[in-house]
Amino acid sequence: MARRGNLTEEEARIIANTGSLEAEMADRMIENVVGCMPLPLGVAVNFLVNEKDYLIPMAIEEPSVVAAASNAAKIARAGGGFRCETTDPVMIGQIQVVDVADPEGAKVRVLEARDRILEVCNEKDPVLVKFGGGARDVEARVIDTLQGPMLIVHILVDCRDAMGANAVNTMAEAVAPLIEELSGGRVYLRIISNLAVKRLARARATFTEEAVGGEKVVEGILQAYAFAAADPYRCSTHNKGVMNGVDAVVIATGNDWRAIEAGAHSYAALGGHYKPLTAWEEDEKGNLVGTIEMPMAVGLVGGATATHPTAKANVKLLGVKTASELAQVIAAVGLAQNFAALRALATEGIQRGHMSLHARNIAIMAGATVDEVDRVVERLVAQKVIRVDRAQEILRDIRGER
Ligand code: MEV
Repeated sequence: MARRGNLTEEEARIIANTGSLEAEMADRMIENVVGCMPLPLGVAVNFLVNEKDYLIPMAIEEPSVVAAASNAAKIARAGGGFRCETTDPVMIGQIQVVDVADPEGAKVRVLEARDRILEVCNEKDPVLVKFGGGARDVEARVIDTLQGPMLIVHILVDCRDAMGANAVNTMAEAVAPLIEELSGGRVYLRIISNLAVKRLARARATFTEEAVGGEKVVEGILQAYAFAAADPYRCSTHNKGVMNGVDAVVIATGNDWRAIEAGAHSYAALGGHYKPLTAWEEDEKGNLVGTIEMPMAVGLVGGATATHPTAKANVKLLGVKTASELAQVIAAVGLAQNFAALRALATEGIQRGHMSLHARNIAIMAGATVDEVDRVVERLVAQKVIRVDRAQEILRDIRGER
């Protein structure tokens, strides 16, 4: 493979280094494993969530995110920290039925058979049922499609501390023959929906006018929010800032960040108009009140969370006992991250904060060694030109001085 890819021995060794995840374990997780792709892991501090202190592991390659979250959490602390809650951890499994002669009639027949459907589902996962979860309800809709009307059946499954994709998909597949029998149609897809509207996490925090930096800054953040709420081009970036925080914790805890991303953006677009995941208002005292509500399908049992050694250690460091508690913390981080971005954007802009961290990467790219990096960064920032060619010049200069 190294020959085909024209890799040097050193490059092949870098790819093959699996770090804390043993090669054998990585090989059991996915296919055709040749190595691991490490990401920096930082710890966000100052988070007070429902009156409990958390150290929050964040895996992310982007500079400034961990510092910004920590800073926002410090400001939120002055207003009492974050208040968070979740709905029950209920996921939706979809069963697609086509070629139904009487879709409306079939819908009612399916709903009438609710108890039988739930029984078939729950027989598939006695362990989930033992832990207080399991299939709870059935919904059915008739939708118009390019292929004509379809009956779409939803099973609603309380997944407790699991993300739930395996449990829900197994149930959806198991119950499909019964749905065919009841509807007289043919079932095709049987799969979880990532638009997890029944598994929401919410967080709110008050950022006092004083801690935010005064009336003007509060006003700037409200203007930024209004911009995002009115314009999808801005809203995309607004929500990207939220996901900087959310994804970093989701990845650090070994959860499925694609599921979280898909859920977040489809939820943001649910009303037919892409909207911010957060909302910003001013209270009667002039303080800034931030809220977030978004699907949060994260688990603590099953998947990489339970097997990946770094994810396991991160969950322990975080100290969460349930998937709902994890979802609450993640929502708080998303809100904090959005606050930090809006505050920076509405004041000095984000580039100044980014500059020294960005300069570090540039210095390393230019070939600076560990003991040269700081000196190169200092000069790059002072010159306000963060470019590799300039970093190389500085390096030559520094080395010539020696
Ligand atoms: C950069 O990763 C994230 C921001 O662009 C978010 C935002 O604009 O709100 C700063």
